[in-house]
Amino acid sequence: MLNPKSRQLTPHFLWGASTSAYQVEGAWDKDGKGPSVIDLANHTEGVTDFKVCSDHYHRYKEDIKLFAELGLKTYRFSISWTRIYPTGRGDINKAGIAFYDSLINELLNYGIEPFVTLYHFDLPQALAEQGGWGNRETIDAFIEYARTVFNHFGDRVKFWLTINEQNMMILHGNALGTQDTSLADPMKALYQENHHMLLAQAQVVKLCRQVLPTAKIGPAPNIVSIYPASSHPEDILAANTYSAIRNWLYLDMAVFGRYNTIAWNFLECRGWTPTIEKGDMEILANAAPDFIAFNYYTSQTVARSSGEEVEKGHTGDQHLTVGESGFYTASRNTHLKVNEFGWEVDPVGFRTTLREIYDRYQLPLIVTENGLGAFDELVKDEQGNLTVEDNYRIDFLRQHIEQMRLATEEGVEVFGFCPWSAIDLVSTHQGCSKRYGFIYVNRDEFDLKDLARYRKKSFYWYQQVISTEAKEL
Ligand code: BG6
Repeated sequence: MLNPKSRQLTPHFLWGASTSAYQVEGAWDKDGKGPSVIDLANHTEGVTDFKVCSDHYHRYKEDIKLFAELGLKTYRFSISWTRIYPTGRGDINKAGIAFYDSLINELLNYGIEPFVTLYHFDLPQALAEQGGWGNRETIDAFIEYARTVFNHFGDRVKFWLTINEQNMMILHGNALGTQDTSLADPMKALYQENHHMLLAQAQVVKLCRQVLPTAKIGPAPNIVSIYPASSHPEDILAANTYSAIRNWLYLDMAVFGRYNTIAWNFLECRGWTPTIEKGDMEILANAAPDFIAFNYYTSQTVARSSGEEVEKGHTGDQHLTVGESGFYTASRNTHLKVNEFGWEVDPVGFRTTLREIYDRYQLPLIVTENGLGAFDELVKDEQGNLTVEDNYRIDFLRQHIEQMRLATEEGVEVFGFCPWSAIDLVSTHQGCSKRYGFIYVNRDEFDLKDLARYRKKSFYWYQQVISTEAKEL
């Protein structure tokens, strides 16, 4: 039932699109950039690495011109930590600063608001070799890196995101290539890393307030509604537990500065609680963000666990559930269709997720990722122009935007929507043939071809959505 007062999307709604540095830029070792863990991670056989990607590093002007034609009000991208600090700390790489200076200026020339992620999976390799997030010194390195980018770009960047999908790095580090698999007790170590990342995030939020008092900053986890497989009370309990571990652990800490009780109990049962040093909880307190950004691709469903399942382990795909024997087990939602990669497509779940987050935290929301990966095919349109007839992507986005609008009418405060991705890029672990962009990049897994850009059908559709403020979907 809709509210008859029907709230609309705000007039300054940030229609945007997203990318991340290591998936789009390429030039992985150019102009002084140091390696990140992602640059050196093992790659799935048969798919490309992140060395060239979409060559955005060299073609960002051409790309931003296309973003302007698309009508983007904002562009969400990440800064590569190792372009600024090749070894994670120490001497600043001036060429890295110059690159982002130029990219930001180019966006502003077209009136596109830069929305900057500080850290999107690409921890400097040099820091990883010194223990990565397991070493508390990485917290200081992250704060210094944030201070540097705030100082250099804060006169022009008003919106900041701390860490992209910290929850996915913890739950699916193997799939993403962010987890050190050589650790003796990887899960205990991971939750210690998690604690350190939470500390780093809280301090960077406070730093932002201090250095850039008019800027806005928020976290960017992946948050999705968790369904119980049935109305059996133990399935509902399992869903409640999984949601706490997957979603609320991260946002309760970011907003309220405390560990979620259910998630903490799970960590205790498993023996995975992190060591909390004196003073940590004070650091974590009073660091509430200005907004919550979140990524959403699919909902998830779980059932009660018999305690005897042999779970597949923390590998695979970051958008598929891996059960925790004794707590919950992954379940298929038969009401939903799946995409080519087995992810359930659930626009109504998106609306539920928006409602749940807003109801829980009462902070403005922005969607920083949502979209459909597919094996697009370049074809000629009626005029003989090369394009992609990606009606499937249009359908997916249309349904999600419709549900976002309904959530808005119900009172949820959403101030932006940034689909993944602005332009084709390399997927986290499934190569560049799995495409998400509004703009096609002409390359294959191993044949770079000419890397030419072509507007997809979804490009023209999204252009219309933006220009009509989603009145025409
Ligand atoms: C999110 C990440 O998990 O999902 C992105 O923040 C990623 O970096 C996106 O690309 C889509 O996932 P994938 O595995 O298809 O690239």
